[in-house]
Amino acid sequence: MTGELALVGLGPGGPEHRTPAAATAVREADVVVGYEYYLKLCADITTPDQELVAGRMGEEAERADVAVRRASAGARVALVSTGDIGVYGMASLALQLTAGLPAGKRPAVRILPGVTAAVAAAALLGAPLARDFACLTLSDVLAPWELVERRLRALAGSGVVLALYNVRSAARPWQLGRAREVLLESRPGSTPVGVVTNAARDGEQAAVTTLGELSADGIGMNTVLIVGAASTSLHDGWMVTDRALRGETR
Ligand SMILES: C[S@@+](CC[C@H](N)C(=O)[O-])C[C@H]1O[C@@H](n2cnc3c(N)ncnc32)[C@H](O)[C@@H]1O
Repeated sequence: MTGELALVGLGPGGPEHRTPAAATAVREADVVVGYEYYLKLCADITTPDQELVAGRMGEEAERADVAVRRASAGARVALVSTGDIGVYGMASLALQLTAGLPAGKRPAVRILPGVTAAVAAAALLGAPLARDFACLTLSDVLAPWELVERRLRALAGSGVVLALYNVRSAARPWQLGRAREVLLESRPGSTPVGVVTNAARDGEQAAVTTLGELSADGIGMNTVLIVGAASTSLHDGWMVTDRALRGETR
């Protein structure tokens, strides 16, 4: 008998932004697998009867493999991630591994969506995602930086609002500065930029600066940036993108 694999997006952090469906999937699991910090984020709904399998940063393939193997062997497994597990998360890896199993060994898979960092950050800033937007990761761990930079330049030139993930870490200290230079090739220094760290969890911080004044201070692994478009401006402190494209040529 194969088991069940629930791919669970926990939301950005606190239980109030976690969906009831995600919480139920975690509660019903025999085994909960996740990066150690993500297991802490759902510690309020796990119990001593459950087996918790904690992994470290960079061990994503191992975590997905454990989750898929345990589910294939008959356990009810919840593989957890912050935000939405399909957005820079582990859902794709888990689905690829599951599809590689012989048909009779594949567990039933359910995917539980979550509130992403981009929308959690946007809600703290105002309404910056009111029209077209794109998400881009600045991480060059799984892709060459040249490709990241090329995509960033193309998106910046397209005029849409940008939600930038994985903007800075101890191992990737210079990429944010280079990304700012690329953005300034096609967007003015006055462009509003929302800087949100730890959205909807302990240590939450949200501020709006400009592209010209953006600095790396306080920006780290738990920060997402929202880079405005030509139609983004401040209204009583809120970062707002107009729903209409007025006078924009791209
Ligand atoms: C591996 S990605 C995970 C994204 C997640 N699956 C989602 O849907 O939001 C990790 C990056 O997401 C962003 N992030 C995740 N949670 C965040 C939060 N609560 N506040 C701000 N940024 C967050 C940061 O840019 C971080 O480097």
